[in-house]
Formats: sequence, C-alpha cells, structure tokens
Amino acid sequence: MLAGFRCLARPRPQSSRPVSRPVSQVSLISCQTRFSSHSPMGAPPSNPRKKVTLGTLRSLHKKGDPITMLTAHDFPSAHVADHAGMDMILVGDSLAMVALGMEDTSEVLLEEMLLHCRSVARATQSAFTYNVLTRKVGDLPMGTYEIAPEQALGTAIRSVKEGRVQGIKLEGGKEMAPTIRRITTAGIPVLGHVGLTPQRQNALGGFRVQGKTSHGALRLLEDALAVQEAGCFGVVLEAVPAEVAALVTRKLSIPTIGIGAGAGCSGQVLVQTDMVGNFPPGRYLPKFVKQYGDVWGEAKRAIEAYRDDVKSGRYPAAEHTYPMSGEELEAFSEAIKDVR
Ligand code: KIV
Repeated sequence: MLAGFRCLARPRPQSSRPVSRPVSQVSLISCQTRFSSHSPMGAPPSNPRKKVTLGTLRSLHKKGDPITMLTAHDFPSAHVADHAGMDMILVGDSLAMVALGMEDTSEVLLEEMLLHCRSVARATQSAFTYNVLTRKVGDLPMGTYEIAPEQALGTAIRSVKEGRVQGIKLEGGKEMAPTIRRITTAGIPVLGHVGLTPQRQNALGGFRVQGKTSHGALRLLEDALAVQEAGCFGVVLEAVPAEVAALVTRKLSIPTIGIGAGAGCSGQVLVQTDMVGNFPPGRYLPKFVKQYGDVWGEAKRAIEAYRDDVKSGRYPAAEHTYPMSGEELEAFSEAIKDVR
C-alpha cells in the first residue's frame, strides 16, 4: 500500500500553544497525499481530444474517415486504448477466452460481462474528466438476448445501468431485427454483428468465413440491411471476403466495422490481446490479425529480470527504500534490544 507515497508539508495549526509531537508521529500525520501502486492509472492524456459521440461516428463515416475500434476487457486495457485515440472501445465477449481463459464465448455470464464493462467504463470515465470520452460498447453474451425482445431489452438496460456502457452489440441478422428494434426504440444504441457470429459457431460449423458464395453473400447483405432497418448505428462484418464486405458497405447507409473483412469497410476492429501480442509464442492467430507488438514477450522479459534481481540481491537497491534518520534508528534499536 505504501509504494510511492509523497509527504506534503502541512501548514502549522493556528494555535498559540505549540503542539509538540514525536517526529515520527508528525511525519505520519503529514503524509496527506499518497500515490499508491494500487491507485488507478489516472494520468491525463497528453493530447486531449473531443469526446466521441454517435454524431462523431456519423461524421467520420460521412467523410470516409475510417472508424477505429478495439476491444478492452479491464481498466488498464481500456485506459491505454483510450489514450491511444480509439474512436470506440468494445467490451467484446471474446474476453471469455482472452481474459478469463474460457473455451469459447458461450461460457461467459452476464454478471461477468457487467463486471468487465464497469472496469472499462471507469477507465474512459476518468478520461472524460480530461474531455475525452471514447464510445463504449458492451457485447450481450449468449443466452441473454435471444429468447425474446423483452429479455434482450432487459439485458441491454442492465448493460447501460450497471455496466456503464453507452451502447450494446449483439450478434445476428434478420432474425434479430425485432429485438434490435425493441432496444433502439428504448433509446439504447445498438451495433449489429453479422457474417461469422462466434456465439453461433456450433450452428455455423466452426469459425468459417461467411458469404463466400453468391447465395451466402446475398444472405449477408439481407442481414446487414435488416439490422440497419431495425435501427443499428453500425454493423460489424466478421470473416467475410473483402470484395463482398466492400459491396455490402456501399449498399448500407450506416458504417460497417470489419474484422477479417478487408479494407472496404467503414472502420476496423481487432481484439486487443491479439494485436498487441499479449500471448505466448506459437499461439494460433487468425489470418486477418496484424500483430503490432510483443506485450507478452516484454512482460516476460521484465518479470524474468525482476526474478533474477531478487535472487541475486540486486533488487531492492538503496533508492527503492524509505529513509529513516540515524537518531530514530538508534532509538528504535535501543528500544528493541531486549526484545526476543
Ligand atoms: O467479442 C469480440 O471481441 C468481438 C469482435 C468484433 C472483436 O465481437
């Protein structure tokens, strides 16, 4: 708890009688401001930008300026994505695998999603103080919206009220249109998701590219048009041939956010863990992922160096310790000389 605390000089009490306290007690009392290593990371971004709203996204789309979206699953991953200037942050249910070690997205519960949504929202909420608000979208996990539009609306409301997100994403095309309509008419922005919908991987026969035949591509377009008609502010196109995604994008008036769908979409989304390389070597990566970093390798190198330093006695060094006056130390040694 004490890592990084800073003692601030405190004004003397306005009293005629001098207060006399032992030095050690005074210094404890005057340590008013502590920067603990357990504090949230709240440093303001160096280049504050205007808050991102639905209007911002619409105007980016109109100008043909690609929309950037990235997943985040907790406070630090949202914090860095926000500082790096993402237009949208998605608390994707892919966190089931990348943050919770589950086998697939079907396992994650709504309560678990809400916990992660809240921590992501806190990271961008602090950014709001500095006039930055990235639009936060939370995924509705499998089983929390498919039964009926009323069930979906209930889940969407919980995501906004308890998860503190500003919009929700749900998977599915034509068949989900009435559900999407129910949520959007209640005033909750919805991001659609068509093409490969990982929650339905069993029905789709695994993680397969969608819309590869003219029939499949037509179905994809129908799905995208249906979710647009139902009021979605945008739609994710996942694992679709680039040409098909580009043609579908041209037929829509809302932005398409591609993942494995080529450069013809209105924006792109990736799973943060994948693109920053926060996984051990040898892990399977889908073809569409571009790895921009080696966070896992860097963290491993740092942890190994720490381990070696502790084992060899190089850490902690004098500069990592808190000072005490020689006088106090002598008094303490004297006081404990008979303690066994
Ligand atoms: O859950 C997820 O991460 C997604 C993708 C669109 C990235 O749905």
